[in-house]
Amino acid sequence: MKPARLIMTLFTAVTLSVPLASTASAAPETDGHHHTLRWAAPKGFHIGSAVAGGGHHEEQPYPDPFTSDRPYRRVLAAEFSSVSPENQMKWEYIHPERNRYNFGTADAIVRFAKQNRQVVRGHTLLWHSQNPEWLEQGKFTADELRAILREHIKTVVGRYAGRIQQWDVANEIFTDSGALRTTENIWIRELGPGIVADAFRWAHQADPKAKLFFNDYNVESVNAKSDAYYALIKDLRAAGVPVHGFSAQGHLSLDYGFPDDLERNLKRFASLGLETAMTEVDVRMTLPASGVPTEAQLRQQADYYQRMLTACLNVRTCRSFTIWGFTDKYSWVPVFFQGQGAATVMWNDYTRKPAYHALRSTLAGRR
Ligand code: G3I
Repeated sequence: MKPARLIMTLFTAVTLSVPLASTASAAPETDGHHHTLRWAAPKGFHIGSAVAGGGHHEEQPYPDPFTSDRPYRRVLAAEFSSVSPENQMKWEYIHPERNRYNFGTADAIVRFAKQNRQVVRGHTLLWHSQNPEWLEQGKFTADELRAILREHIKTVVGRYAGRIQQWDVANEIFTDSGALRTTENIWIRELGPGIVADAFRWAHQADPKAKLFFNDYNVESVNAKSDAYYALIKDLRAAGVPVHGFSAQGHLSLDYGFPDDLERNLKRFASLGLETAMTEVDVRMTLPASGVPTEAQLRQQADYYQRMLTACLNVRTCRSFTIWGFTDKYSWVPVFFQGQGAATVMWNDYTRKPAYHALRSTLAGRR
């Protein structure tokens, strides 16, 4: 065993010896750490997962996954070299009142990542969704709103400075037709599009080492939305704004075709001098009446996962591939899309689907 891997294994063992509030009964598949995704990945390539908690989880009949589910934590530590808080760094969670921050879970995730030699993707600073009511309903002047955003970015990014590899600074700022979300997005609506550049500048001042990203869904292909990002980022970089990356979320569905031009699209952003990443990958499907996917669906799902990963691996600047949760037990998909699900790479009991094996063998093929 390589020394670095041995140390990682020991770190993992230490982390998992911490007692947890409650434990689930399922035992994850444990066929050795060298059969994990992170072990299979080529050097310097980060394979990540969202860390389940907050958001839709709060309405589900289970306790908080990250803090309560011990087998969940074991798989999270063993399989991944990058973690992204699914909801725990979003405004409504981390900044619930104007003068109060709630850093508890975000701190715990960053600590967990350090103990397990994982990097962290911060998510997210400027978005139209999951903002607290005090912000959305507050009657602030433009100057006040600007000061609120600046203070939030300085506080949150500053707190984790040096410990976040990539920040999704601006999330989902364009509609599918490539128009800025000028009505839904409070920041752009009230302060104008220039606020986006300011958000990047403030984040860069707070943590000069973090790579700062634009992140969105439905930008896997060359289309109106990804064209809008391409044009905006080109302009911002020409103006010296610290934008370092562009990421496609990768929420795909078997009901639609695979975006065959994903690699070509990522490459055009790479040619602007940007890092690229896949940040929220999952592949949902319409389930049969039984609720259990067919063999053919599982095969096709594995193929979609594998092709997304291959596209990223084929782009020199794409060094980070994150799935939006690794187990169906906690997936957001059935909560949002009625009749759909099975979108992740593991079943509820953490046993592995064909998609998991497709990811691992694709990674291993590039070591
Ligand atoms: O805030 C409302 C609350 O007022 C209402 O009473 C309650 C009733 O359903 O819903 C609450 O909203 C929930 C929200 O989180 C805020 O906590 C939604 O139901 C819940 O579905 C939502 O889930 C999160 C979602 O983002 C919100 O957009 C998911 O957990 C999270 O996985 C998902 O993640 C996003 C990424 O951040 C960005 N890209 C897309 C991805 C999937 O939607």
